[in-house]
Amino acid sequence: MSDKYQEKDQSKFLKNLSRTRTNKAIRHLFSDVVLEKKDLIYPLFVYEDLLQPEDLSALFGQKKQTQSSILKEIESCLEMGISSFLLFIVPSKKSEQHFDYQFDEKIFKSIKNAFGDNIILFADVCLCSQTSHGHCGLLDESRKKIDNHQSVLELTKKALLYAESGVDVISPSDMMDNRISSIRESLDKHHFDDTLIMSYSTKFASNFYGPFRNVAQSTPSFGDRKSYQIDYRHQKDAINASLRDKQQKADILMVKPALSYLDIIYRLKTNKELENTPIAAYQVSGEYQGLKVMADAGLIDFHEGLLETLYSIKRAKADFIITYAAKELSAKGML
Ligand code: PBG
Repeated sequence: MSDKYQEKDQSKFLKNLSRTRTNKAIRHLFSDVVLEKKDLIYPLFVYEDLLQPEDLSALFGQKKQTQSSILKEIESCLEMGISSFLLFIVPSKKSEQHFDYQFDEKIFKSIKNAFGDNIILFADVCLCSQTSHGHCGLLDESRKKIDNHQSVLELTKKALLYAESGVDVISPSDMMDNRISSIRESLDKHHFDDTLIMSYSTKFASNFYGPFRNVAQSTPSFGDRKSYQIDYRHQKDAINASLRDKQQKADILMVKPALSYLDIIYRLKTNKELENTPIAAYQVSGEYQGLKVMADAGLIDFHEGLLETLYSIKRAKADFIITYAAKELSAKGML
């Protein structure tokens, strides 16, 4: 066989893959992951007893909203095509066990009153912004451990009040055991069978919540959250936690954080038992702000970096993404 013949023969197996990368329009044509505004859920923080909105220095582009500024904020997001919001209420008073949700109710009612079904109102249900110790549940008598049962009762009460105030999607982020079944039962009993539940079902004990805890004033004053959030070395727990919450009738499951747990998102999405269950992924505060820190050091482009991470979460097959970047990227026309 001549050398020439061999060369020609082999060329059949050489593929010019870069043909699909030659220019912007062609790259766009061949792209096969879709990121849409409708899949983004934008977190917003409302503070009690605040008179003027303030910038949150720990979370670029985000603000402490007041009772009135929250309405303007939602309106400006709606104009940009963002219509799902995850609300965090930060109360001015902290307590060990007697909580007052009047401010929360007032905020949700005024939002629903102003925007009705033009928006989807998700509300984070947890106790960490309220408790004087900053844990997500109530403490037992020893005051060293969480009392799961009492915590679930309080969360259930809070969830029902939220539903009564017009919240569309109750979003428990506390990680107490069996709060989903308790909340579902109570909502159904009170005829809120249409109120949805998005469970923070696979929530890891992560280092990336730092900026959020600064913002939500929810850093635990002692210990950590490792006895109720998932250990990142325990894969089976990560899967089982979501399977359990599906059985307890959560409508949407969630993996949080997103970027360090893309494998978990994918594994849940491809799990037979979860075939028809939407999975949300939360791009958490540290994942977002970390990119900003690199951008400020002149090392990356913030917006391009955000897009890349959001697409990676979509490739992992997340249905929805909770992200602080929703407004920022929409404002730039990048979505
Ligand atoms: C609290 C809660 C946390 C986040 C959302 N709800 C933090 C925590 O567990 O300490 C984190 C969000 C973020 O980092 O962006 N239950």
